[in-house]
Amino acid sequence: MDVTLLLRQCQLIDREPGIWVDVAIDQHEIVAIAPDLAVSAQKTLEVNGKLVSAPFVESHIHLDSALTAGEPRWNLSGTLFEGIDIWRDRKQSLTVEDVKARAIRALRQQAEHGVLFVRSHADVSEANLTALKGLLAVREAVKDWMTLQVVAFPQDGLYGSERNEALMVEALRLGTDAVGGIPHYELTREDGVRSVHRIFELAQEYDRLIDIHCDEIDDPQSRFLEVVAACAIRSGLGPRVTASHTTAFGSYNDAYALKLMGILKRSQINFIANPLINITLQGRTDTYPKRRGVTRVKELWQSGLNVSFGHDCIQDPWYSLGTGNLLAVADMGVHVCQMTGRDEINACFEMVTGGGAKTLNLGENYGIEVGRPANLIVLSAKDRYEAILNRSTVRYVISKGRVLVETHPPQTTWHP
Ligand code: FE2
Repeated sequence: MDVTLLLRQCQLIDREPGIWVDVAIDQHEIVAIAPDLAVSAQKTLEVNGKLVSAPFVESHIHLDSALTAGEPRWNLSGTLFEGIDIWRDRKQSLTVEDVKARAIRALRQQAEHGVLFVRSHADVSEANLTALKGLLAVREAVKDWMTLQVVAFPQDGLYGSERNEALMVEALRLGTDAVGGIPHYELTREDGVRSVHRIFELAQEYDRLIDIHCDEIDDPQSRFLEVVAACAIRSGLGPRVTASHTTAFGSYNDAYALKLMGILKRSQINFIANPLINITLQGRTDTYPKRRGVTRVKELWQSGLNVSFGHDCIQDPWYSLGTGNLLAVADMGVHVCQMTGRDEINACFEMVTGGGAKTLNLGENYGIEVGRPANLIVLSAKDRYEAILNRSTVRYVISKGRVLVETHPPQTTWHP
């Protein structure tokens, strides 16, 4: 058999440690996986037992605001609400070219860290829909090496001003992949509930996925998650629906949390936590004890619900740090969610790979199996634990059958 690319001696992530296999790729597709394949390849990579995984999946990011930290001013209070105010000012000077250039820079940065699937929110609260048009253009521009989903996200609320609902509909017509929302930021609780119902109507009318910023606040009275779950149950849309952040769930009393968990299990919706941002933005109004402000990741995972971790922000009005490396996100998730057991650490790795793929509804477009698209990464690690421990270098990023990025780990030399 002749193939275009052969990876020799791979430690596939879901195989027994020490059982190495070869992975043969022809053009865009994985065509064989077995030990010691007898094939001739145009190009061969000697993997030598390194960990080979499906790519990292960025399930939640805001590429329209990425790489704008300090523009037009820094967020001095560090709060979510000051971030929204700064972004309202920054977006006055937004152009399609500005959005495109920054988003592509951020995506390249993520690809260098092994991310090949990204879901980005695009703010659709601005009259010209510049952020959205920019990100739709980026989706097209990067499609040969990166899969980008765009969510229509009404940052200022679906009912925050009279025009916002019409802007959302226009965004869907322009071709977003998902409908977003922000019920806890609407003017009233009633508006919040109404916005969730409207999001489900729009998702059904336009046949789109749903990803709602839901209860991203420490207020234990913020209870839109139950509304999202109920709508998911009644519409039957379950796995096509995602609740992002849900940080208030970390502040609910345990009696309510127990009741809610039963509804969530029925709903089968996906959850996204953003550990770097949640630990940073939440708890800001607390003195001490100060809340972690992260949703109940461990309990959701233990209940068998799908959870993924996202980066949320890279150097923007809400978070001036971040490099796009999802191993940094998983590392923070391990700590802030207290998931330090070996199985729990493995689960956190899953939350930036397979869990994210499930959130994005990638189906058979994702995973290392014969017949699937040849997207995979080679890490300088032997297992998930070591990858998170060392934030291991992604040695090779293979996108649609070709080596897109190659990185050499740093070399340390002692001079005694
Ligand atoms: Fe977000």
